[in-house]
Amino acid sequence: MIKQAIIPLAGLGTRLLPLTSVFAKELLPINGKPGIEYILDECIEAGIKEVIFVISKKKIMIKNYFYNDKFYKDIIKKKKDPRIVNEYKKILKYKKMIKFVFQDKPLGTGDAVLKTMRFIKDKYFLMLLPDDLIIKKNCSKSMIAIHKKFNSSVMASMSVHKKEVARWGIYNVKKKIDNANFIIKSVVEKPNPKHAPSNKAVIGRYILPKTIFNKLKNLKPGKGGEIHITDAIELLINDNEKFIGHKFFGKYLDCGTMKGYINSTMEIAKI
Ligand code: G1P
Repeated sequence: MIKQAIIPLAGLGTRLLPLTSVFAKELLPINGKPGIEYILDECIEAGIKEVIFVISKKKIMIKNYFYNDKFYKDIIKKKKDPRIVNEYKKILKYKKMIKFVFQDKPLGTGDAVLKTMRFIKDKYFLMLLPDDLIIKKNCSKSMIAIHKKFNSSVMASMSVHKKEVARWGIYNVKKKIDNANFIIKSVVEKPNPKHAPSNKAVIGRYILPKTIFNKLKNLKPGKGGEIHITDAIELLINDNEKFIGHKFFGKYLDCGTMKGYINSTMEIAKI
């Protein structure tokens, strides 16, 4: 069973400047609700019991959002507003399942995952990248079902335009299982379109084996000087770990860019 999830949250959010100069992008509202709460709701609905937030000192605002008890207690005492009581209850429910781990330098997704090593209990865990919202169908839940069926690692995937491959991790297929699931032959971080193995991109939902920590411990920085989870995954594939690319059915919203962030509010408001 997959019971733990990791969410890397120490990124600087430069693509969303100036909003992120004083604000954590994951707390920015999307149709009136912080982006991170959509991710937490996806986890809860998928049966996750513990979520590990990887934050930095600069992103301490995220911890404060969930640890603001005195403020809520005082205001509830004064106002007795049932709406505020319900909001506080919701925050308490999230808080109970969150553990905080620090990554003080933004050295990449791989480094963020490595920081959680001592907390991971089971053979496999889930990782969600908060810039990627997937609405209308719970992607993590579908991936957990695939993991159970094939006893393998899984990554969410989507086809992208050939000229945009340099924005993503890109994989090629060893074997097609069905129309939505593919056994991965190899994966490369943000390839040049000229050398990209395909147009199948990795989206920010991963079911990873605990053995990935052995790879991450010795991994050298890759593209852009960062330690990428993609590079550790490629090493595991070379060691015969089975990775499935799962073409998800939900709608993908890229909340990590200004254009995508604005669009995500409009898309969610339509539901
Ligand atoms: C990260 C991963 C990349 C993946 C992408 C999905 O990139 O490194 O492989 O395709 O997330 O959103 P980032 O968005 O951090 O540049």
